[in-house]
Amino acid sequence: MKKERFICTYTVFDNLDEMDPQDAELMRRAHEATQSAYAPYSKFNVGAAVRLANGEIVTGNNIENAAYPSGLCAERVAMFGAMAKFPGVAFEALAVTAHSQTKVIAEPVAPCGACRQVIVEVEQLSKRPLRVMCQGQEGPIMVFEGIESLMPFIFLDKFL
Ligand code: THU
Repeated sequence: MKKERFICTYTVFDNLDEMDPQDAELMRRAHEATQSAYAPYSKFNVGAAVRLANGEIVTGNNIENAAYPSGLCAERVAMFGAMAKFPGVAFEALAVTAHSQTKVIAEPVAPCGACRQVIVEVEQLSKRPLRVMCQGQEGPIMVFEGIESLMPFIFLDKFL
């Protein structure tokens, strides 16, 4: 028997001005996308933006439903939207943020488990690590250089 440890590495930026301008722009687009959120139930507006290898940016926001599980997270709206609009184009980066309708979120908001599993698929298709950047309405930005830093022991298609 032996105990092992998973080490997760990420970079923390204090503000967008410290970041690569392209990445800062992507996060700004994610912030803008929160304004389109349809979140009457959770009152939690999430915005996401993906940058593709062809330079295109596709944004997404969460869309809720009175039958709760029928809604979809902002990250998946953005990723699926990008795959629908630009099939076969590699993904470079994903920015995620959330603006609550009831309080200020000042810590990074990371993608949920289901969205992480979709990031796995997108990363595999893209044949390169996908940079994931997370921020609250304000405050620091956490940057992960690929899904393996966000999610250990990922489920891969090779298991099938
Ligand atoms: N949500 C997202 O859009 N992304 C996540 O990664 C986590 C949660 C949405 C779903 C729901 O509309 C609201 O946030 C509260 O869970």
